[in-house]
Amino acid sequence: MGIESSCDETAAAVVRSDGTVLANVVASQIALHANYGGVVPELASREHLRNIVPVVRAAMAEAARMQPGLAFAGLDAIAVTEGPGLAGALLVGITYAKALALGLNKPLIAVNHLEGHIHAVLMERGVEMQIPLLALVVSGGHTHLYLAEENEGAWRYRNVGRTVDDAAGEAFDKVAKLLGLGYPGGPWMDALAAHGDPRAVEFHFGQIKPRAPRPGTVNKKAPGLPADGPTFDFSFSGIKTAVLRYIQTHGMAACVEARRSALAEALRANPAMKASDALALLPDRFDRQTLGLIASFQYAVVGNLMRQTFAAAQAFGARGILVSGGVSANSELRRRFTQEAARRGLPVAFPTLAMSTDNAAMIAAAAWPKFCAGEFAKEGLVATPQLRLGQGYPMYDLTEPLTEQI
Ligand code: KG4
Ligand code: ZN
Repeated sequence: MGIESSCDETAAAVVRSDGTVLANVVASQIALHANYGGVVPELASREHLRNIVPVVRAAMAEAARMQPGLAFAGLDAIAVTEGPGLAGALLVGITYAKALALGLNKPLIAVNHLEGHIHAVLMERGVEMQIPLLALVVSGGHTHLYLAEENEGAWRYRNVGRTVDDAAGEAFDKVAKLLGLGYPGGPWMDALAAHGDPRAVEFHFGQIKPRAPRPGTVNKKAPGLPADGPTFDFSFSGIKTAVLRYIQTHGMAACVEARRSALAEALRANPAMKASDALALLPDRFDRQTLGLIASFQYAVVGNLMRQTFAAAQAFGARGILVSGGVSANSELRRRFTQEAARRGLPVAFPTLAMSTDNAAMIAAAAWPKFCAGEFAKEGLVATPQLRLGQGYPMYDLTEPLTEQI
């Protein structure tokens, strides 16, 4: 059983060792946080507290329907997200999982949320991807590139790129908010971008400078690259500011406010309203300039994610690419990554849409190799909000082999 509570989703899942998902229950808090335009940590913790017991029970009941006779006593282990995430939110899942494991006398396994996102893809494909793999984990809280290798069932990771400021999903959400769209902004931008001209506005991404290299460092893992760069890092706060400036300098503020209040009213009448419904209901509120800005923003962000990912894949000799996390649900991202991967003859894989965003099946899947290796959590397991996955950068320091085990 996997349990996940790192951000604004309370989730529990039951997954078999062959990757079959018997139950995958997710209680989303989106409606609660929508009022604030972002996740409010204290509210998230309280909501997790309210949801955790019914969500775990619902997952067990669903699993028993799928596999008659299965009950808590039939579980192999309890896996829980240790971090990264919101401290109070993580604590709810961890405390509950500890108590459950203790009560059932089952082993407890601590899982890194980011490793969960990677395993969301691996579990579904059910086929061996060739290693090393390059995984782009791109969500509301993260934009990371990991080089992943498997050795006798144990996975090891090297963090070869990350955002130096905002995550890509955060940029989608913030720009959507600037434009007076719904929450979370990513799915709104995705749906509306299809109606705009991606060449309407040109956005640029600067090259991110590496930190000063250690003298004499040789870039053994990526021999084609000089030891002092380039990096495969990301930066998304600049494009957000560029959108804000565009709105201001093109006299769009009044049109944004008119859309914001029209949408607020429509969302009160129908809280489940999606971007496509809004476009049909309020066509005058989505002018060509706004749609062009949305399409251009998305085109630029997806292009930047692609450039860094494929450059890193080439530099590190990756034999396949995985893209996971909430933003991997983006339709343009899927289309363009698939095209570019085909052009390069490189396999690329994404999770199904349900597995793209936070869930607990991915936590259970990432826990299985640890279960087999007997890697269990210590009694003193605590929430680790800044938990990292794998050995880190600096990028140019690639002389050590991939040895760290998570
Ligand atoms: O993985 P996730 O559920 O939670 C985090 O760990 O952050 O990702 C949520 C993020 C949000 O920023 C949301 O706007 C973004 O994923 N997202 C999308 C799309 N669907 C969700 N961004 C762009 N296009 C989408 N279709
Ligand atoms: Zn996530």
